[in-house]
Amino acid sequence: MSVNKINTSGRLAHVLVCVNQRRDSNLPCCADAGAEEVYQLLRAWIEDRGMLAKIWLTRTECLGWCTARGATVVINPGDHWYRAVTADDVPTLIERHLAPLAT
Ligand code: FES
Repeated sequence: MSVNKINTSGRLAHVLVCVNQRRDSNLPCCADAGAEEVYQLLRAWIEDRGMLAKIWLTRTECLGWCTARGATVVINPGDHWYRAVTADDVPTLIERHLAPLAT
């Protein structure tokens, strides 16, 4: 079997946003807690700066930190995990992690 390693040298950051929608469950999930809005706000900020090729943004399934209060977001480099992220929190995440990359 051949394994082809991807060259990620042009990537400055990788943001993962859980948008998981649980079905047939009473457990909370990010989709019901505003994850799509969080994703779209991050996407708009990155796209507006022409940085989609440098700041990767990925929708994910459950990351294991489900809550009804917001989405789970992971930002690399640095392995920064955030729980219960809402649209109101997005400016803080951008200021803390992404804005310094957009100089
Ligand atoms: S549903 Fe998002 S972390 Fe579990």
